[in-house]
Amino acid sequence: MLADKDRIFTNLYGFQDWGLKAAQQRGDWDDTKSLIARGHDNIIEEVKASGLRGRGGAGFPTGLKWSFMPKESKDGRPSFLVINADESEPGSCKDREIIRHDPHKLIEGALVAGYAMRARAAYIYIRGEYIREAETLQAAIDEAYDAGLIGKNASKSGYDFDVFLHRGAGAYICGEETAMIESLEGKKGQPRLKPPFPAGAGLYGCPTTVNNVESIAVVPTILRRGASWFASFGRENNKGTKLFQISGHVNKPCVVEEALSIPFSELIEKHCGGIIGGKDNLLAVIPGGSSVPLVPAEQIWDAPMDFDGLKDLGSGLGTAGVIVMDKSTDIVRAISRLSYFYKHESCGQCTPCREGTGWMWRMMERLRTGDAAIEEIDMLQQVTKQVEGHTICALGDAAAWPIQGLIRHFRPELERRIEEHNAKFAPDTLEAAE
Ligand code: NAI
Ligand code: SF4
Repeated sequence: MLADKDRIFTNLYGFQDWGLKAAQQRGDWDDTKSLIARGHDNIIEEVKASGLRGRGGAGFPTGLKWSFMPKESKDGRPSFLVINADESEPGSCKDREIIRHDPHKLIEGALVAGYAMRARAAYIYIRGEYIREAETLQAAIDEAYDAGLIGKNASKSGYDFDVFLHRGAGAYICGEETAMIESLEGKKGQPRLKPPFPAGAGLYGCPTTVNNVESIAVVPTILRRGASWFASFGRENNKGTKLFQISGHVNKPCVVEEALSIPFSELIEKHCGGIIGGKDNLLAVIPGGSSVPLVPAEQIWDAPMDFDGLKDLGSGLGTAGVIVMDKSTDIVRAISRLSYFYKHESCGQCTPCREGTGWMWRMMERLRTGDAAIEEIDMLQQVTKQVEGHTICALGDAAAWPIQGLIRHFRPELERRIEEHNAKFAPDTLEAAE
C-alpha cells in the first residue's frame, strides 16, 4: 500500500482548505521559479525519465508528447496548452476531486508544463456539469493571478503565462481532444481527423498539447521529488502513482491514490472494504471507465492494475475508473445501458459510428430481453468489428469494446436468455397456456 508520505494528492478528501495559503503550506508553489529555471528541455527530459503516461485514458507518454511541440515559433504563431477537465467517462471522477480540493496543483502544473513546451497560455476546458468545481477553480486561478504566480512574469520567472477557464456545455464528445479544440474555437464540438495531431495544428491552427488534469497536476511534485522517485512506483512501462476511482458493488466506493500495478484484490480489500457479499460474489469488473471491455471475476482478482496488465486481459487501464459488478448485476442490461450512452453521445459525423451505435444498442436490447436468434450474437459481433477502427475518433471503438467483452465472456448468458425467451413463446407453450 502506498505510504502517506508518497502521496501527491495530500488533500484529496478535502480535509484541509483548497485555498492558496493552505496549498502553499502543503508545498505547492514552493519556489516554482527554480523549477522553471531548469529550462524547457530539462523539464521535458525529467518528465520523460519519470515514465509518466497520460492519465486521461490513452496512456501516451507525457514527456514525449511535449517534445512534439516546436522549439521556435513559426510565423509568429503562439503555442498553447489545453487541459482536459471534461471528465465525462462513466466511472471516472478523479479530476473532479483534484479540482475540488487541490486546484493549485493543477494551476502550478499548468505553468510549469506550459513553460516546458513553450506555451503562451493554458486553456482549462471543464465539464459543464462541474459547476461548483468551475467556481473553485476560477477562484484559485484568481488567487494565483493576485499573488503574481501566473500572468506577467509568472512566479518571478521572467515568463508570461495566462490561464483561462472554459466551461463545456454537456457533450461527452468534447472530451476528445480535437473536438475540445473545435469547441474552444467556438465551433460545434466534433472531432477532427488525425493527423495532423494538435502539436502540428491545434487551437486556432497553432501548436497545441492537450493533457489530462491529473497528468498536469502531478508534474510539480515529480520535478520537486525527482523522476526516479516517481518511477520507483509501479513496474516497467507502468510507472508512478495513479488515482483510482472505485464504484459499484464494493463496501466503500472511493477515489484513492495508489502505486500503479497494485493488484486488484489489494485495491479492493485495502481501500474499499471488499466486495459486497465477499470475493465469491464478484461477477465482473470494468477496470478503466466505460470505454474498455469488462474482465470476469476469475481473471481480474490477481491482476496488476496498470496499462500492460489489463491489456493482457483484453481490457485496459483507461482512466482507472474501476466499475465493480457483483452477481446481482444484470450484466446484459448493464452493457446495453452503456450502448445507449454511446449512441446518445455520438456526434454523428461518421457513418459507422452514427449508424453503428444505434444498431448495436438496438441489438443489445433484443439480447437483453432474449427476443433474438442465436445467430444474432455473431451478427452483433460483426457489427462491432465494422465500427471498431473505422471511425474518426475513439468513440466508435469505445462503443464496440464493451459489447465485444460481453460476448467474449458472457456468451452462455446471452444464449440462455434467447433459449428461455424462445421456450416461453414457443407455439406449444402458448397453446398450453391457453
Ligand atoms: P489516442 O491514443 O488517439 O491519443 C492519445 C494522445 O496521444 C493524444 O493527445 C494524441 O494527440 C497523442 N498522440 C497519439 N499518437 C500520436 C502521434 N503519432 N503523434 C503525436 N501525438 C500523438 O487516444 P485519445 O483518443 O486521445 O483518447 C482515448 C482514451 O480516452 C480512451 O482510452 C479512453 O479511456 C479515454 N477517455 C477518457 C475520458 C475521460 O473522461 N477522462 C472520456 C472518454 C475517453
Ligand atoms: Fe463523431 Fe462517432 Fe465519428 Fe467520433 S466516431 S467523430 S463521435 S461520429
